Amino acid sequence: MRVLAQIPHPRTMTQVTNTVRFVLDGRIVEAQGERRTTTVLDYLREQLHRTGTKEGCAEGDCGACVVMVGELNDAGNAVNYVPVNACIQLLPTLDGKSVKTVESLKKPDGTLHPVQDEMIKCHGSQCGFCTPGIVMSLVNLVQVVPQPNRQQITDSLSGNLCRCTGYKPIIDAATKACARKADLPIDDQADIPLLKDIARSKVPTLSLDGDIIVQPVVRTKKGNEFVSPATLAEVADYLVKNPSTTLLAGSTEIGLQVNKQFKRPEHIMYLGNVAELKRVTDTPKAWRMGATVSLTQVEALIAEAYPDFAEVLRRFGSPPIRSTATLAGNIANGSPIGDSMPCLMALGATLVLRRGDKNRTVALDQFYTGQKSNVLQPGEFIEAIECPKPVAGQVFRAHKVSKRFEQDISATCAAITYSLKAGKLSGVKLAYNGLAPSPCRAPKLEAVLEGKAPTDVTAADLDAAIAASFVARDGLRATWAYRSLVARNLVLEFIEEHTPEVA
Ligand SMILES: Cc1cc2nc3c(=O)[nH]c(=O)nc-3n(C[C@H](O)[C@H](O)[C@H](O)COP(=O)(O)OP(=O)(O)OC[C@H]3O[C@@H](n4cnc5c(N)ncnc54)[C@H](O)[C@@H]3O)c2cc1C
Ligand code: FES
Ligand code: FES
Repeated sequence: MRVLAQIPHPRTMTQVTNTVRFVLDGRIVEAQGERRTTTVLDYLREQLHRTGTKEGCAEGDCGACVVMVGELNDAGNAVNYVPVNACIQLLPTLDGKSVKTVESLKKPDGTLHPVQDEMIKCHGSQCGFCTPGIVMSLVNLVQVVPQPNRQQITDSLSGNLCRCTGYKPIIDAATKACARKADLPIDDQADIPLLKDIARSKVPTLSLDGDIIVQPVVRTKKGNEFVSPATLAEVADYLVKNPSTTLLAGSTEIGLQVNKQFKRPEHIMYLGNVAELKRVTDTPKAWRMGATVSLTQVEALIAEAYPDFAEVLRRFGSPPIRSTATLAGNIANGSPIGDSMPCLMALGATLVLRRGDKNRTVALDQFYTGQKSNVLQPGEFIEAIECPKPVAGQVFRAHKVSKRFEQDISATCAAITYSLKAGKLSGVKLAYNGLAPSPCRAPKLEAVLEGKAPTDVTAADLDAAIAASFVARDGLRATWAYRSLVARNLVLEFIEEHTPEVA
């Protein structure tokens, strides 16, 4: 196949020479000859000797590795940052982006960032191992929310574990730093032109025959590739040709598979640079969320309409997890205790699936065929998730039960929608995680509820429906006795609490 020589983009050179280019503190770093699964953390520490960024757990839990990753805004005049767990992000995802580590913060004259300075003054650091991650979480917060309240400060630290301080001096330091408004923004003006220089191509490369050629960011001698296309057409085309490719979105599952199970997928396709997949379409009846819309974005989008869903998402992982993790990744991964799915199923969400140039729509409650298996065909992927908006009189409730409030996995999470017609429950949709091999609706429980006044629903009827619906199985997170009791009590609470408001 002949390749058009006249496609004049600088990416062509760097892509075929296996170079990942990113901006670090006013210079372009060209990472050459790295593996497609090298993590950002390993590269920062081992190649750039930025050892301020620490490795604690290597699985996104402790926050010792938090750095900020930035992308140019649409206007091209500022950088938008998100906090990221460097231990589970793969280096080639940085191509075209910028990174800030704890070493980025000190000014040339030695002045520390107010967050660092106040951490010292308030004794916010003892052994110091957690400190760089905590500083980066707080610095990221004040870039996005210049005057955070106490709740926002504590939320921003929910993914940073500190075994020494008890957190109070850290929160005091953050509060004091916020008073020094003028010094909070980091100086990244020099990065902006460099980010433009290394911007990834927004159009596919075509052969003379008009075929799409997806250029790899990394290509090994064995022919294994890390590709990072810019368009939906490239994604679809590459997947049809290479159906065993591992899709990579937020990397909060894949990063663990690389670190903990030592998986080395042959071909990896990163979806984070595809403009169409980042898009949210807001119509009067629904939101259509592209497959790489992050959980942080989803939380903001649905918070007003569905506060309980937003609360479930606020308790999902931590800010660095939510800023990268996607709904599509949560759904495709299909964990039995995946948290977004009960909410989306109760709301009647649908998935837009794509293979080649063909789309089909599948209701989320019809997506799973068993534990971690689903209806996706080889070469098919989730293009978008459509979540209906509330209709008049509709009640939506959801709650996640876990041992800890934040950064913990569900024992079970339940969600329900219904309305009341003449005092009777109507249009009931109820879904759970943690009770079956995959998150699912509970039609036998729905049947118990449908058409009844909330006061006529009995615990015994719900218990019988739970026993008839699920195989009793104790799990690592909870016994069956506990889970089934919680599953029943959540329903009772959901229908009792809202009856007076709706009636
Ligand atoms: C510290 C930590 C805390 C967590 N807490 C929670 C929690 O509270 N609740 C919870 O439910 N989960 C939790 N998770 C799991 C994880 O964060 C979620 O499942 C997340 O939504 C995965 O999304 P991602 O974009 O990071 O997926 P990735 O890791 O990028 O991919 C996950 C899977 O989805 C596939 N995939 C991605 N995009 C697509 C697509 N468009 N089409 C088809 N397949 C696709 C990938 O190939 C892969 O198999 C946690 C994980 C960590 C590390
Ligand atoms: S090392 Fe623990 S979150 Fe990355
Ligand atoms: S200061 Fe020791 S872990 Fe936080």
